[in-house]
Amino acid sequence: MESRFAMSSLGSPIVDRRAFLLAGAGAAAAGLLPRSGRAEAPCAEYNLTAASAQSPILGASRPWTEVWSYNGSIPGPEIRVRQGEPVRINVRNGLSEETTVHWHGIRLPNNMDGVPGLTQRPIAPGETFTYKFTPPDAGTFWYHSHSNSLQQLGRGLTGPLIVEEAERYPVDRDLVWMFADWRLTTDAQIASGFGNAMEAAMSGRVGNTVTVNGAISSGEQVHAGERIRLRLINGALARIMALRFEGHRPVIIAVDGQPCQPHQPPNGRLLLGPAMRIDIVLNLRGKPGHHYAVRDDFYENLAYTVTHLNYSANAALRTARDDNDVPLPGNPLPEPDLQGAEPHQIVLQGGMMGGGMMHGMGGMSGMAHDASWSINGHSMIGDGQASMPSLLTLPRGRSIILKMQNKTAWWHPMHLHGYSFKLLRRNGTPVPHRQWGDTVLMAPKDNVDVAFVADNPGKWMLHCHITDHQVSGMMSVLDVR
Ligand code: C2O
Ligand code: CU
Repeated sequence: MESRFAMSSLGSPIVDRRAFLLAGAGAAAAGLLPRSGRAEAPCAEYNLTAASAQSPILGASRPWTEVWSYNGSIPGPEIRVRQGEPVRINVRNGLSEETTVHWHGIRLPNNMDGVPGLTQRPIAPGETFTYKFTPPDAGTFWYHSHSNSLQQLGRGLTGPLIVEEAERYPVDRDLVWMFADWRLTTDAQIASGFGNAMEAAMSGRVGNTVTVNGAISSGEQVHAGERIRLRLINGALARIMALRFEGHRPVIIAVDGQPCQPHQPPNGRLLLGPAMRIDIVLNLRGKPGHHYAVRDDFYENLAYTVTHLNYSANAALRTARDDNDVPLPGNPLPEPDLQGAEPHQIVLQGGMMGGGMMHGMGGMSGMAHDASWSINGHSMIGDGQASMPSLLTLPRGRSIILKMQNKTAWWHPMHLHGYSFKLLRRNGTPVPHRQWGDTVLMAPKDNVDVAFVADNPGKWMLHCHITDHQVSGMMSVLDVR
């Protein structure tokens, strides 16, 4: 039932579209009916087809945008499974180029990780590949293409992946807001120019149109007195977001799917780099009939309203509850042994400086043509290939500390595949609220230490999730064996 809730809560153009998908004969093919089989079958099954489609990003009355999507919807269908329950996802490639799907944040077997060349042969046009895994952790995750990432992500190949806790968290509704950022031309088409070298050495391809669940949003309909869980997913190519909920006090209960101690964000500002997720609880204490803006003020002087909380005129459902400090149940993450841990330095370099000079690239030996960025002096470019040498070999079962140093003048959301890591310190200060993540946002010159137990064997990507940075050098491979 929760998935119905989430769907009926989407912005209006999308409601119609999804309702149509649900009602139509395409519903089964759209992969939207996994729950029916749950009681009988031990395994949830989904079908995703990556193909081009038309989507009303700017609203049904404006020109529709040609996108690449899963099952014709932007974002792709919500995949919702239970913690510890196996899932199979049949991915058919209806594009005219190779693709793969990465299940971002899920701790899964290496050969299901979706990195072309490195963990699997890419899915050729017309072929189908079946991904199978059993998510050990409950939380908010997402899936996206990992092939020709700049274009495949930038044209829409992303979707939410929700792993439910065994017991329902005490809220009235559970909603997903998946953000995307598009660079649209005046006729609402996706602008060309992916992979611009100048942009790649700076902030990446930041767009001009931010959508919530696939369309520009006029708001979420809410009721006074309600308590909602809102799962925020930044599925943008490059845009970092800093969200403020006017008139409300969000409480963070999970970061990157992993439960933390419930806390309010510093200055009421939720920092969400590309690929990051934050689950919040909102007690809706606004006035019936009022509208409250949700603003993103990350980039200086470029603040804008992402969406609104639109209160119905009805009187409050109940007097506000004060129980929003309930923590989520923990996930079965192995606790790293910090005393015995093996430390490794990870140094991020490159990018444009204020004066347009390249800076601090270290040894040029590992540098590929077109590289703007490097990790420990090496630049791997692209999306993944069979021949990628490993930056580090980590002994299986050992606790590892990555001491990451951002020597650049730019922000980087650094993502490790196959693991969640514990955030230990930022610039020498312990990170509060027991936070884990799979993507850590590093400010210019930040030093961040993270730790994990290297219990999942295989070759795992470590890369910046600003896609232009990833494909122009800020990528490496950690080999656990
Ligand atoms: Cu969202 Cu290589 O990952
Ligand atoms: Cu980066």
